[in-house]
Amino acid sequence: MSYIHKKQCRICKGTELTQVLSLGDHPPVDNFLSNIQIKDENRYPLNLYFCAGCSLVQLLDVVDEEELFHGEYAYFSSASKPLVDHFHSYAEDLKNDNMQEGDLIVDIGSNDGVLLQFFTGTHRVLGVEPSSNVADLAREKGIDTVDGFFTTKMAEDIVAKHGKAKVVTANNVFAHIDNIDEIVRAVKILLADDGVFVTESHYLLDLVSKREFDTVYHEHLCYYSVKPLMHFFQRFDMEIADVRRVSTHGGSIRVYARFATSEPIPESVQELLVLEEKEGLHILSGFSSFQTDVDTIREKLVGLVRGFRAEGKLVTAYGAPAKGNTLLNFCGFTPDDILYITDTTPYKIGLLTPGSHIPVVSPDILQSETPDYILLLAWNYRDFIIEKEKALRERGAKFIIPIPTVEII
Ligand code: TYD
Repeated sequence: MSYIHKKQCRICKGTELTQVLSLGDHPPVDNFLSNIQIKDENRYPLNLYFCAGCSLVQLLDVVDEEELFHGEYAYFSSASKPLVDHFHSYAEDLKNDNMQEGDLIVDIGSNDGVLLQFFTGTHRVLGVEPSSNVADLAREKGIDTVDGFFTTKMAEDIVAKHGKAKVVTANNVFAHIDNIDEIVRAVKILLADDGVFVTESHYLLDLVSKREFDTVYHEHLCYYSVKPLMHFFQRFDMEIADVRRVSTHGGSIRVYARFATSEPIPESVQELLVLEEKEGLHILSGFSSFQTDVDTIREKLVGLVRGFRAEGKLVTAYGAPAKGNTLLNFCGFTPDDILYITDTTPYKIGLLTPGSHIPVVSPDILQSETPDYILLLAWNYRDFIIEKEKALRERGAKFIIPIPTVEII
């Protein structure tokens, strides 16, 4: 077992931290297993806390990052076509608004090069990625990638070799790092004076309002809203220059940060601050029904799936995303409930889901077999998948949608 329980807020260092959601003990969600690895599985507490000092919602139980990210990592950004499309348009935004040809862009947590691939040929690119199996895929695409975690030392080395970066990005990773102070110190070393640090992270407003509890897992340490982020960047003489809501992962925010200026707080930032306040995200009482709402989703899902199984129906699941494992383990599902899960990621096929031990198989099986009910774990791609699986539905399969409200379509 390797985890610590923190007693201080990551952003303001406050100690008035109150639990707002408890999901029980879970194994790390990306640790897909072979049959022989089942016996070595560790489980760690998965609880969300609210900080009275700066309103940051966060995990305080921190699993050793070597156990979460190092070596083989199961998450390949390019496995989902809508996500690739998203990064394509994100790249176009950066090129149009923030960069000129030849500028250097560095992506922290560059995964398989899903963002940087759109800059090769026109810009200088560098990825930083601690998981060597996904970094290798980026290198195959011609993307220079440094192995390892991003630190001040690494930033100095990059500047010495490549010069300063016009854009530094950290997507779906800025919320995954325990020591975010170190990341920003390193970003400040790497960033050109007129450069911009751009992050995308799941947005707390979407998480709470749509009860996306399954997006809570050990890799995700912070659940950002704009208020604590403003506080955070101020501490480092930086500021938020712009913020945009984007649809990825059930609702995210793209935050553009730069060195502090004397300009007033941008309208986009003010608008989200007002909205967050209205939705109760800045006070503890705003989270008072969160646990009950999430427990209700569990009750409904368990009732449906076990009810169908009692009738002898074939129930499977679609997509084995990280968040699917939070949902499966929170519901206590086993292979008796869900016979198998189809997923397009070659790495996951042939393995078992962590905790629930459900086999992941190739989607090809759905050409010849028609499950009665398919639990859509990759619910964030609902429209895309429902359209893609038209024929399957015409053959009689029904999808169980778990989030934001349980429904069958
Ligand atoms: P995703 O929602 O991107 O992520 P997270 O792991 O952060 O929760 O993961 C989607 C998963 O669903 C990924 O393993 C690929 C799989 N998938 C399919 O199997 N079929 C599909 O059509 C799509 C869009 C995704």
